[in-house]
Amino acid sequence: MPRRILVTSALPYTNGQVHLGHLLEHIQTDIWVRFQRMRGHPVVYVCADDTHGTATMLRAEKEGVTAEVLIEQMRVDHIRDFQGFLVNHDNYYSTHSPENEARAALIYNRAMAGGHIFTEQVQQLYDPVKALFLADRFVKGTCPKCGARDQYGDNCENCGATYAATDLIEPRSVLSGSPPVLRSSEHYFFNLATFTRVIRDWLPAGTQPEVANKMKEWLDAGLKAWDISRDAPYFGFRIPGTEDKYFYVWLDAPIGYMASLENWLTNRNDFTFDEFWKADADTEVHHFIGKDIINFHCLFWPALLTSANYRKPTRVHVHGFVTVDGTKMSKSRGTFVDGSTYLKFLRPEYLRYYYAAKLNGSVDDIDINLDDFVQRVNSDLVGKLVNIASRCAGFITKQFDGQLANELAEPALHAEFAAASERIAVCFDADDTAKAVREIMALADKANQYVANAAPWTLAKDPARRDDVQRVCTQGLNLFRQMLVWVRPILPRIAAEAEAFLNIPALTWADATTPLLGSRINAYVPLLTRLERPTIDAMIEASRAPGEGESAVSTTTPSTPVAKRTKEPAVTAAPSTPASISIDDFQKISLKVAKVLTAKAVEGADKLLELRLDVGDHERTVFSGIKTAYNPEALIGRFVVVVANLAPRKMRFGVSEGMVLAAGPGGGDIFLIAPDSGAVPGMDVM
Ligand code: MSP
Ligand code: ZN
Repeated sequence: MPRRILVTSALPYTNGQVHLGHLLEHIQTDIWVRFQRMRGHPVVYVCADDTHGTATMLRAEKEGVTAEVLIEQMRVDHIRDFQGFLVNHDNYYSTHSPENEARAALIYNRAMAGGHIFTEQVQQLYDPVKALFLADRFVKGTCPKCGARDQYGDNCENCGATYAATDLIEPRSVLSGSPPVLRSSEHYFFNLATFTRVIRDWLPAGTQPEVANKMKEWLDAGLKAWDISRDAPYFGFRIPGTEDKYFYVWLDAPIGYMASLENWLTNRNDFTFDEFWKADADTEVHHFIGKDIINFHCLFWPALLTSANYRKPTRVHVHGFVTVDGTKMSKSRGTFVDGSTYLKFLRPEYLRYYYAAKLNGSVDDIDINLDDFVQRVNSDLVGKLVNIASRCAGFITKQFDGQLANELAEPALHAEFAAASERIAVCFDADDTAKAVREIMALADKANQYVANAAPWTLAKDPARRDDVQRVCTQGLNLFRQMLVWVRPILPRIAAEAEAFLNIPALTWADATTPLLGSRINAYVPLLTRLERPTIDAMIEASRAPGEGESAVSTTTPSTPVAKRTKEPAVTAAPSTPASISIDDFQKISLKVAKVLTAKAVEGADKLLELRLDVGDHERTVFSGIKTAYNPEALIGRFVVVVANLAPRKMRFGVSEGMVLAAGPGGGDIFLIAPDSGAVPGMDVM
């Protein structure tokens, strides 16, 4: 039975360009959507820009344009960037739309009719010069706890204290510099506590366990009413029945999911609004979001929907935050990379693949280790996947006029691949693309080994084995085609190009179980080239903005992250059997016993230790990603194995002269490989 599915990514704020963080989310969502479609499920994927709030109003004012002009320009930019990364939204709309205004009013009116809305006077800081109420981020002053000057109205960056803006000593408005005054005004509240039971029951199936647990802490503490109004002037929708009250941006933002769908449905009849949103809908609704906005999606949103007699989401899929080389994306380091900048230097496939290889369905942060990025893309995509096709296609086109054989050389191997297809599908469905990629790459190794062993280039020298050449290459191309099915959600453009060269229609998941025989293929076109580190460095350089802040001021970004440290493999993962190399290749590597003379942590690097090694006749420095597992002091005097003839690598912290060998998946599970006692520094490892 096909599932009918509505999918969304969180609506990016209008006041910034698309960056690597947004892309993680939209790429994750897009992969999931493409996968479901290949499985035969009808899917609608919608998104929009989140446009409302004081920040938009102030920026439009500063740029001397109307808010409408500003947000439309940003929307065009956002659409362009997402398309550049092959993210295929069916509709990318705006929360500032008639559909959204009407839907927000309707939901509010239903909540009101149900008795879930009440009003109360609220005291807030007010800027008499700008004539507006000040959100916490628009007030600065002296910390009431430690006395540090120039702290924001919600917390102190010096001592970490959290407080109300009204507690600041000598507060002033960030907007006008003038001292704010306390003013009282009437606010509208949504009575969240009424829905405690509803939320509790929804949570277990509604999101990941780690998110549900976090939400349960909130439920256990007791839910406070949610302030859903803001005073004029505010860029947003006026609350029905009021003169000067507006919906808080987070009230109408998720309703934007509905409005984008509704707008897309204009003049279509393959889907309906009600089939997705009516209270007893048997379709599915999936939201993909980051861990910073879980309270909005896992508390407020299900409650609000219930109060308006709509269904609740089937599942909220939560991902972690993107870090680069172990630290938060930063403008001064050049690691706050905008989508448009990335695309000037690199193909979107590299990032799509890298994210897919890392996303495993948890809320752990996703680290882009730039060296690992280069290595991973080159060895997996270029070295393993594309390689198969390029090795086999030439023989078929040149010697058989493009004609595939009528039978496979090894049907059992094809069947073995086919048997993996459902396992891989389970991984995609469960957001564990990392596991899917591991499976696929293990099979890619098998496919390469098959071709290497069958050696069509040797067979081709013997005219009597002509049929074997055709069958072996047909086998190789079929293994490639099976892998193409599985990577197609991740690499849609490469898949389309490969489909053109294989001369086949768009692949579906089921195609992985039936071979392609007897048909004619077109000439192979190179599908992907290697990624080079200097290109990445150039991209980082182009993203560097010295002196600029780490992020734009935003009144609307909430700060409720699920605190979780990244646990990324420090050792480059080699989960699959590598393609075989010759003994000659192996002998090129010089492995030597070394003794650790000194070891220390590298400032600014989460995983690196700087090791000074005694390698017998000389000393050298090696940076090693083992800090998560080893205390530096404990390493001094230990024996390790080092790759002695690795070309020196210039890293951000210095030059690394070699590599220390270790085993394990990473994090705390890294184990240095050490020789038995008796070995001395400088000995060759054989
Ligand atoms: N406008 C709200 C969402 C409203 S949804 C009804 C918002 N916008 S945002 O632009 O700040 O973030 C949009 C999405 O991008 C969120 O899911 C957020 O978690 C995600 N990311 C923003 N920065 C990120 C990283 N550095 N890393 C990963 N995702 C991050 O929140
Ligand atoms: Zn302080």
